[in-house]
Amino acid sequence: MKVLVVGSGGREHALAWKIAKSPRVKKLFCAPGNAGTMSIAENIAISDSDIQSLADFAAREPIDLTVVGPELPLTLGIVDEFEKKGLRIFGPTKKAAELEGSKIFAKQFMERHKIPTARFKIAESPEKAQSILKSGEFSVPVVIKADGLAAGKGVIICPSLEEAEKTIQSIMVAKQFGDAGNRVLIEECLQGKEVSFIVISDGARVLPLVTTMDYKAIYNGDRGPNTGGMGAISPSPFLTKKMFAEVVNTIVLPTITRMREEGRKYKGALYVGLMLTEDGPKVLEYNGRFGDPETQPQMLRLESDLVEILLSAIEEDVLVHEVQWSSKASACVILASGGYPGSYEKGKVIKGLEQALENPDITIFHAGTRFENGQFLTNGGRVLGVCSSERKLAEAMENIYHAVSGIFFEGMQYRRDIGTKREEEE
Ligand code: AMP
Ligand code: GLY
Repeated sequence: MKVLVVGSGGREHALAWKIAKSPRVKKLFCAPGNAGTMSIAENIAISDSDIQSLADFAAREPIDLTVVGPELPLTLGIVDEFEKKGLRIFGPTKKAAELEGSKIFAKQFMERHKIPTARFKIAESPEKAQSILKSGEFSVPVVIKADGLAAGKGVIICPSLEEAEKTIQSIMVAKQFGDAGNRVLIEECLQGKEVSFIVISDGARVLPLVTTMDYKAIYNGDRGPNTGGMGAISPSPFLTKKMFAEVVNTIVLPTITRMREEGRKYKGALYVGLMLTEDGPKVLEYNGRFGDPETQPQMLRLESDLVEILLSAIEEDVLVHEVQWSSKASACVILASGGYPGSYEKGKVIKGLEQALENPDITIFHAGTRFENGQFLTNGGRVLGVCSSERKLAEAMENIYHAVSGIFFEGMQYRRDIGTKREEEE
């Protein structure tokens, strides 16, 4: 088979790494890929949002299976476009991807179907937003969300009413996130532990992946602004077996069933961001894709053939019982550019990669990297994901931090508390 992975992050490198191990795969492409995917696949210089060129490439090759990593091409309708051309592709259609593409659609969907989530109000104008805030209906901290995709930055937790009013001003009036700020959600702030619950669905049934959680804040101790994720571990120490079943039965399966009933059959990866509150698990958000960095530790633990799994989901008979996972604990620590999640410079030379990889217990997934004149250079905010899998999480963390100590690029920043702090809180 010829397989194409769309995207260029750590998630896509991890997916490509696992796909490349499948005996069914004869040729692997990544579009556009990064300096890591280069060594296991042929990188194709097509942007992940250039759906037309991707579909033309896939038809020409022809590609037997396309796997989409990021949300943008999905919400732009890449799956519909490929299916129109008779090309096999893994991911939700445009209508199904709206669960991620529009937070308001997602909230109204949950409200319609009594899927547990934070209490919310929608505001279509800054005046309406200010009046909701003034009404006292939501106590502080209060959460404000831009409706559309805002590169993971459109969610602001406001500690005071003043902050909330300023946030409305910058999202809805100054249009900080462009048109994504035409409408906002004002939401109750949920308290509890956060986990990422990720499944592969065939439109009716689901295969839950091993449990995982990421570390969203930029600094140690969950301080500082949110990022796409500075690290992840699997399993998540917080999701008990009982809770797992509750999430599948009260959240995941109803979501898949109701989407189908609404004419938006959901096939692909579904990522449910959950807050484990005192009143049970509640949905923070849906993503129509695998997590990044969560996919990195998850792929390290997957023993079955990922290609077989993805094909079974597309054929609407997802493998539910046969999939094998390692019982080990795995983790990923992200090395990011100085300044991320704000502005940062690119093109810094990365040193020490080869030595780090001399340890067979270390896997490094590339994200924002490129290869030029025999050197690896930084090319994005999140640069590398250093991963390991061991019988005990602490051992994996030891491997990872030892490897990290030998890697360097100017401005490099990373969290030193991945895999430890939150467990110790318990
Ligand atoms: P979202 O993009 O909706 O997942 O939001 C990004 C992050 O903001 C989540 O991962 C949570 O950490 C936080 N968040 C979102 N909604 C809420 C909420 N209602 N209460 C508390 N935290 C939230
Ligand atoms: N790690 C968060 C996400 O993939 O959305």
